[in-house]
Amino acid sequence: MKHFLSLESVTTADIKAILCRASYFKRERKHHLRPLSGQTWALIFSKSSTRTRVSFEVGIRELGGDVMFLNANDIQLGRGEPIKDTARVLGRMLHGAIIRTFAQHDVEEFANYSRIPTVNALTDAEHPCQILTDIFTFEELRQESIRGKIVTFVGDGACNVPASWIWAAARLDFELRIAAPLAYQPPTELLRRAGGRVSITSDLYAAARGADLLYTDVWVSMGKEAESAQRLKNLAGFQINASLVGLAAPGALVMHCLPAYRGKEIDDATMEAHAETIFAEAENRLHTQKAILEWTLS
Ligand code: CP
Ligand code: NVA
Repeated sequence: MKHFLSLESVTTADIKAILCRASYFKRERKHHLRPLSGQTWALIFSKSSTRTRVSFEVGIRELGGDVMFLNANDIQLGRGEPIKDTARVLGRMLHGAIIRTFAQHDVEEFANYSRIPTVNALTDAEHPCQILTDIFTFEELRQESIRGKIVTFVGDGACNVPASWIWAAARLDFELRIAAPLAYQPPTELLRRAGGRVSITSDLYAAARGADLLYTDVWVSMGKEAESAQRLKNLAGFQINASLVGLAAPGALVMHCLPAYRGKEIDDATMEAHAETIFAEAENRLHTQKAILEWTLS
């Protein structure tokens, strides 16, 4: 039994194995194994979700399991029952848990006390399921490994999505450039811990030059709504648009984890021009997460 809480704690070999199984689950969607048969998993979410919720609910059912969605505010957790007590109760009834919340520490505490496979479905610190899916999508569409390629993240470089990209770069040996204003750059402590070929700049044009993948995420992450006006002002210009795409390598992909705010982190024309890639990326959440679920059982 394993937890999937952060890309920091997943080895390169395990990431490659998960990506390989994601390909199997996609190819054999109608006929694949049903390793969750007889199991009941719960999604415990404290934040909104469309893609993550639906892809996990469908994925668990397709793997043969039952699934329940628990809005954290509807259970006693929302009224202050400690995580460690909730975890010990749920761990005696469920076979696995998928958690979307704020503090990374809360997912770790749940995992420790529940003793059932626990998956991070987004915290303030990381979004590991998303980034494995993005890499799966890159390799699927380009028909080549991401190793040695250049990935440029543009926007809020200090949020969960770029943090998972940082760990992925270290594990899979590609170059990661993060283009963000000074106040929205990842903490140096994280960069030091992760290692890998990661560079940080506020010059988004330099960062985009020759990139194989241009990637962005919302300027206002969940939980940061109070800073919304200030963020829109400070991040203005850190947008993927035609002039930025023009600097990237020929055949470069454009990705967005979604939801997208057109006219902010990406303009409408670029979003629509790259919709096939971006919605393939969204669909691949299903296939990649099935592989992650199977991996947690091993
Ligand atoms: N990308 C992503 O995690 O989307 P949701 O917030 O809709 O789950
Ligand atoms: N950084 C974003 C990702 C959304 C999928 C957020 O945390 O809201």
